Amino acid sequence: MKKFESFNYKTYLNKFGLNFDKIASGYLTSHKRENVVIPSGDKAFAVLVRKAWDKRILGAETYSIEEIFIKTGLPNHKEVLSDLLDNVMAFAVKKKAELLTLRVNENKSEYADIFERYGFITVDRLKTFLYEKGKNKIRNYHTTAGFAPKGSDYKDIVALARNSFKHSRIYRDKNIPKKRADKFYEKLAGALLKDGSNLKLIYKRENQLLGFAVGAKDDSLKGFIPGKIGFLWLITVDPKFRGQGLSAGIMSDFLSKFQDVVDLIEVNTQNDNMPAVKLYESLGLAKVGGIITMHCWRKK
Ligand SMILES: CC(C)(COP(=O)(O)OP(=O)(O)OC[C@H]1O[C@@H](n2cnc3c(N)ncnc32)[C@H](O)[C@@H]1OP(=O)(O)O)[C@@H](O)C(=O)NCCC(=O)NCCS
Repeated sequence: MKKFESFNYKTYLNKFGLNFDKIASGYLTSHKRENVVIPSGDKAFAVLVRKAWDKRILGAETYSIEEIFIKTGLPNHKEVLSDLLDNVMAFAVKKKAELLTLRVNENKSEYADIFERYGFITVDRLKTFLYEKGKNKIRNYHTTAGFAPKGSDYKDIVALARNSFKHSRIYRDKNIPKKRADKFYEKLAGALLKDGSNLKLIYKRENQLLGFAVGAKDDSLKGFIPGKIGFLWLITVDPKFRGQGLSAGIMSDFLSKFQDVVDLIEVNTQNDNMPAVKLYESLGLAKVGGIITMHCWRKK
């Protein structure tokens, strides 16, 4: 019998042996410095992390609610969640937090009214797809193979990355001016592209940049699941070359190389990003879940 109900969208990993009860007891027994565990009696707890990055770029003191766990078998989970959110909000007042962010499993949408009562608004909805090494067969599209970018390529790839996020949560949040959102993704793109542990491949034709893809290893569940997990951070095609069927070749080349270092590749995109959704479906990636992203702004 499960001990906890988890709001984590990664519950799709249960079928690979990920046990959220183990994760919950890990949070309760060993405290990592960056994690703030907020309990509601012994019935529920939330794990929050302060986002120094968001503070720097968005100018708002931001905490991400990384996890919410509620004990199973209790008569009224909605009341328990409300009591827990009272405690989370009291913490936010104490810390002068201005923005709380939350990613929950779409299967938990019956709780949306509770989050809304506390001021959370849905900023985006994502579909999660999964590529399993050895299980998903990738067609060979005979495309130009990707290669690692050189220093002289970075200006072009950062410029392209910066303009590839119009569907993303920071642009969707009406409390964030567009200029701030531009800066957010510009800095994020710069940081992810600089990170040597990420797999970055660029695709060119006659010396013109067609597009690129970046994948990152996800070590947050290391030790909890056999095998290595990674996620596709971004695949993008230059707007001049979009709609010409290039993306399947880029994506299949990228996956075939990324699977040399990870066993499962998570791919997320907004429900209404049709070119991306069609791309992932056409490659045969399995839709394994959905994520609702919520933001809660508090007055300073
Ligand atoms: C997603 C993206 C990489 C697709 O690249 P692309 O080379 O333009 O895509 P393709 O021409 O190969 O088309 C892919 C599919 O989307 C469809 N499509 C393309 N443009 C579309 C549009 N504007 N509206 C609806 N469908 C569209 C195509 O018909 C094709 O579907 P099909 O296989 O059923 O025919 C590109 O749109 C992009 O760079 N977007 C910005 C970055 C982004 O959102 N990345 C994904 C999230 S990480």
